[in-house]
Amino acid sequence: MNNFIFQNSTKVYFGQGCVKEYLACLTKHAHTILLAYGGGSIKRNGVYDEIMDVFYSAGKQVVEFSGIMANPTYAKVQEGARLARACGADMILAVGGGSVMDCCKAVSLAARYDGDVWDDFWARPGVIDFEPLPLGVIVTVAGTGSECNGGAVITNEEKKIKTGRDYPALNARFALMDPTYTYSVPQGQMVSGSFDILSHIMETYFSAPDEDNVSDDIMEALMRSVIRNLRAAIQNPRDYTARSNLMWDATMAENRLIKMGKQCDFECHNMEHQLGAYTNCNHGCGLAVLHPVYYQHIYQEGLPKFMRFAQNVWGIPREGRSDQELALAGISALAAFIREIGLPTTLKELGADKAQLRQIADSCGISQGSYKKMTHDEIYKIFCECYE
Ligand code: NZQ
Ligand code: ZN
Repeated sequence: MNNFIFQNSTKVYFGQGCVKEYLACLTKHAHTILLAYGGGSIKRNGVYDEIMDVFYSAGKQVVEFSGIMANPTYAKVQEGARLARACGADMILAVGGGSVMDCCKAVSLAARYDGDVWDDFWARPGVIDFEPLPLGVIVTVAGTGSECNGGAVITNEEKKIKTGRDYPALNARFALMDPTYTYSVPQGQMVSGSFDILSHIMETYFSAPDEDNVSDDIMEALMRSVIRNLRAAIQNPRDYTARSNLMWDATMAENRLIKMGKQCDFECHNMEHQLGAYTNCNHGCGLAVLHPVYYQHIYQEGLPKFMRFAQNVWGIPREGRSDQELALAGISALAAFIREIGLPTTLKELGADKAQLRQIADSCGISQGSYKKMTHDEIYKIFCECYE
């Protein structure tokens, strides 16, 4: 295993009823709270009322920052920072999925920084040598794992760049995670969020080192859990066991624990982020289109791991198969699962413009952790193979 340092500063409160039980205590020192959310699902499913009841009883001043869009933009970050300053907020409470949580991490930084946070913290890595505005999160959809890391993916619309940075100083102070809050997530989003979880695990699993290490063993169990519980949640969206497993799978995939000792790939994420910058496509849907084709391109360089994936994640027997056939059977099982759960399989379905594929490919970051050193030409080839 490679050397590592591990710390995760977010305190998690997990389970049905956690918001009612703990929110008042967790916000007791805040006078003015910036309550951030997305397009309004929390107003339709009762989550907003539950939160406001707590704040009303505690006499808090609440200022709303709403309308945070999927794939949050830098302009929205600036809007949130202006609002936080104007109202003198001493805490941000982000209620939603990855988009709301990521936007609020950037707001927490921008509200306490006089320069341009895009230039100084997203366009290039920066150093946070001041205290960002304290952030707490309430998770309403399982997927990104943003609740337990310092990652924030922001889209700069003018520059056509969607990029993530991970600053431990931006970890939320607390994360409230009630699986029943995810019951109202539309099936399409539940499925794409779950694929995002699977993708985070695969992007970590398919990377060096491949000798015996506990992270790989944990990841196989997590991948089986996502597959099993997603199938159960599709059958019954109010299956508490399935929803709670998916919610915790998401956190486990991105709370940095499984990355310990691993190099990590994330080339598919690099590609998806740039597709998102050009098409505004759904994150998990973009990943679903890319993964099987990308893996066909790299499996020869990571053959033993792809063979292990086929056997330990998909239960494909070794007997009667060559190494190549076994590895490819695992990739086919992944592609079949994507079709089974109803995710898109072509870039055309995501609304990508074929004429722009070359430009998008050239704008993608190149991962240092891939089994195979990618080039922009090969990324373009992958995009073309994914197109229809
Ligand atoms: O906006 P509202 O009305 O709330 O609706 C949202 C949104 O339309 C809806 N939703 C959320 N909870 C709901 C619900 N609808 C009904 N009931 C509920 N309980 O779900 C839709 C999608 O929400 P969004 O936050 O965009 O989804 P997700 O969690 O997949 O986040 C995607 C963003 O996170 C980034 C992605 O690139 C993308 O920008 N990522 C962040 C990462 C991180 N910080 O670690 C890692 C990821 O790899 C990813 O890149
Ligand atoms: Zn992701």
